[in-house]
Amino acid sequence: MKDKYGRRINYLRVSLVDRCNLRCMYCMPEDGIIKKPHSELLRFEDILKIIRAAARLGVNKIRYTGGEPLIVRNIDYLIKKTAEIQGISDLAITTNGTLLYNLADKLKSSGLKRVNISLDTLKEDKFNQITRGGNINGVLRSIEKCLSIGLTPVKINVVLMKGFNEDEIVDFVNITRNLPLEIRFIELMPIGQAEELYKAYFLSSENVLKNIKSIFQLSPKPTFSDSTVSLYKVKNYRGTIGFISPISCKFCKSCNRIRLTSMGNLKPCLHSDKVINLKSCLGDDKLLIENLKLGIYSKPLQHNMDLENKSASKRMMYQIGG
Ligand code: 5AD
Ligand code: SF4
Repeated sequence: MKDKYGRRINYLRVSLVDRCNLRCMYCMPEDGIIKKPHSELLRFEDILKIIRAAARLGVNKIRYTGGEPLIVRNIDYLIKKTAEIQGISDLAITTNGTLLYNLADKLKSSGLKRVNISLDTLKEDKFNQITRGGNINGVLRSIEKCLSIGLTPVKINVVLMKGFNEDEIVDFVNITRNLPLEIRFIELMPIGQAEELYKAYFLSSENVLKNIKSIFQLSPKPTFSDSTVSLYKVKNYRGTIGFISPISCKFCKSCNRIRLTSMGNLKPCLHSDKVINLKSCLGDDKLLIENLKLGIYSKPLQHNMDLENKSASKRMMYQIGG
């Protein structure tokens, strides 16, 4: 279905839980979050019901996010049931990768197509620092595993931070020489925990691209028109590098997505506080479809994220799942 600006909305991102087993400095408060009671979270059956309704309106792509989706028990069952829904042709997760190694085979055989893994540094000590205690080795093993079993393409999300990982950009690009990974540099957004860090740490993708171009021979790679990423390839390298630039270069014009929070609210835009409660209409199929339609139709034209002119989302990243 199209929204009121003519964008075809075919992509639903579903946050399964707002908790995470890591505490990235730009995402989670140091002492964690107040846990929502389980009873407030959508149950698998509710999620599947919403996805079935969304599929009837033209959604064909689902991504499960968190917090960290892989802390959810029996997620392979949810993946299996989602993959069975008529009309769903693409099924992915965004994960921090720490728990993926042991689950990868099971998820793949349940119908998961591919994964995006967050990794902001390649150094063990810096990883431990930015995630407040995480171990990089589990993530690296998971990446290798996904490549080896064909849970591909594997995309790596790198949040750009001045003074933190600026000095590793060349190392990240170099990974694509022998590995068929898509390394995606993402501009830090001033939401949630990152609001305080934004001024000191923001690094524009434009700057980074300029630097990369001065070192590597880059050529642009075509992307789908509804894509939020600009892709490039270094000549003769196997992998790809990408830039996701929510701040410097807005991609709202081609945005094709809506979001569902773990509490059952539909968010037409990541950066808007406007939500539509779908949990309350789970008992009424007609009302559920009507509310989904309303959510899609009312998707805002664009987000504003420069600090003076910010859209009003007070929700944290771990509640919406990026
Ligand atoms: N700005 C940009 N990316 C963020 N993420 C979490 N918080 C922010 C932020 N403030 C990213 C994570 C992950 C994805 C789900 O969202 O690193 O890759
Ligand atoms: Fe967890 Fe991802 Fe947030 Fe890090 S960015 S704390 S891995 S949800």
